[in-house]
Amino acid sequence: MNYKIALIKGDGIGPEVVNEAVGVLEAVGEKFGHTFEYVDVLLGGCATDAVGKSYPDDTAEKCRTCDAVLLGAVGGPKWGSDKPAEQRPETALLAIRRDLGLYANLRPAVLRPAMADACPLKKETAEKGIDLMMVRELTGGVYFGKRDRYQTPDRGVECTDLMAYSEQEIERIGRRAFEMARLRGKKLASVDKANVLETSRLWREVMHRLAGEYPDVAYSDVLVDNCAMQLVRDPSQFDVVVTENMFGDILSDEASMITGSIGLLPSASIGDTAPGLYEPIHGSAPDIAGQDKANPIATILSVAMMMRYSFQRPGEAAAIERAVDAVLAEGWRTADIAGPGVTPIGTRRMGELIRGRIEAMA
Ligand code: NAD
Ligand code: IPM
Ligand code: MN
Repeated sequence: MNYKIALIKGDGIGPEVVNEAVGVLEAVGEKFGHTFEYVDVLLGGCATDAVGKSYPDDTAEKCRTCDAVLLGAVGGPKWGSDKPAEQRPETALLAIRRDLGLYANLRPAVLRPAMADACPLKKETAEKGIDLMMVRELTGGVYFGKRDRYQTPDRGVECTDLMAYSEQEIERIGRRAFEMARLRGKKLASVDKANVLETSRLWREVMHRLAGEYPDVAYSDVLVDNCAMQLVRDPSQFDVVVTENMFGDILSDEASMITGSIGLLPSASIGDTAPGLYEPIHGSAPDIAGQDKANPIATILSVAMMMRYSFQRPGEAAAIERAVDAVLAEGWRTADIAGPGVTPIGTRRMGELIRGRIEAMA
């Protein structure tokens, strides 16, 4: 097959990690007889520098002509919160998610076998394993609500960010999560703050209605503060976790760290139509950008998710995951996961080793 892929390299370590993931795609293409065509698409701080705005007019359209989108990361101190919205990289990221209808963000947190020693939890907790799928709602909630900033007569400036959810938005992400649970361990935890928020009470109502349609899935409600704690106490209790946009953002960074590093966790953002967008959950890591220090594994595993969810190629996805596990099992580590006494390797070397593993597969 020939696949056309939009590459949004972005800012900071974005181009470095995307380059390694593209190398892996090429190795997969060789091995399995596919060809990939790439279209470079501008989005983020680099777009602001090039054309004056972070989300150029033709960006979404260019992505729509492709079968999938691979994104590195966007953002950086150069385009901070003091800049107008249209120049900020994060505004563009939200806009592309909305414009491509990518309401479901799948963020798997897996403690890979070779990484058990990198888990910061108690040894006996780590030994129970971590293999959960966070399903984060991605195009609603406080991220997309009306914002306001105004002067009050007596309390200075006041700001508001509206958190809104409709039944329809909750139901479609809920269905995705129940379906995902069916394909996995048949357990679903829905995370909310129904003891305080009206949006969460509606969330819970809709989830309970759906739970009736999926009697084979063991369903539970978990309050978000408790979930944050349970992830550290005993993450092995979770299979699929579904939650709203901002809770999912925060909890997935937490989930990444208990599996060793944020540099390891991939994600898939999907909607009801192609293309899906694949990106690591980490950001542009300005502190290590341009130094060949970033861990490319999260982006490489995002390509595996692309194979699985956009192209229905589970064999190719598994080959990439096996290659990553094999290289980790041999003890190769980038700086973020190198324990004491381990000499880290760079971004490019890690990519090269993973490609080599794919090439060597029978
Ligand atoms: P970050 O994820 O970029 O970095 C947090 C820490 O993790 C840093 O110390 C960084 O060096 C480290 N880190 C991240 N990815 C790594 C990797 N692959 N290998 C090794 N170490 C890694 O988060 P931040 O510093 O809060 O944000 C920096 C910028 O990135 C901000 O502008 C933010 O808005 C943006 N951001 C973008 C995305 C995205 O594009 N999807 C996601 C998160 C943050
Ligand atoms: C992520 C990031 C983004 C988010 C930011 C950069 C807008 O943190 O993809 O997790 O909050 O969704
Ligand atoms: Mn985030």
